[in-house]
Amino acid sequence: MDIQLMIKKALEAREFAYVPYSKFKVGASVLMEDKTIYTGCNVENASYGATNCAERTAVFKAISEGKRCIHAICVVGSLTNFTYPCGICRQVILEFASDNCKVIIGKNLNDYIVKDLGEIIPGAFTKENLE
Ligand code: THU
Repeated sequence: MDIQLMIKKALEAREFAYVPYSKFKVGASVLMEDKTIYTGCNVENASYGATNCAERTAVFKAISEGKRCIHAICVVGSLTNFTYPCGICRQVILEFASDNCKVIIGKNLNDYIVKDLGEIIPGAFTKENLE
């Protein structure tokens, strides 16, 4: 996995963020198991609850193009503090995550943290709970 490419793509997508309310830009990139990369930004709404986070934008783009398995996801929000995926995004990523799915939390090309998805959503509710 090329972590710097993932961060670069997240940073590029971040520039497209539609954030008239929070002014908080977020970009994401998602690496699927077939090595394709999709990107997304946060898209806010005057009805605040209709806002879509960057991570979910990227994941939904991939899923809607027929991809199913996430190998890694990268998020860049603040350029000075690490911005972790929100709880809803963690749950959505998990739905499509490969075993060992990585989450890259970046500030810039050289300053990032890599986590296993399982570390940031322990004890999660998954499809197995519905069986
Ligand atoms: N946001 C994301 O895009 N991803 C996250 O994981 C955290 C929050 C966005 C949503 C909203 O547009 C802004 O950041 C402030 O919450």
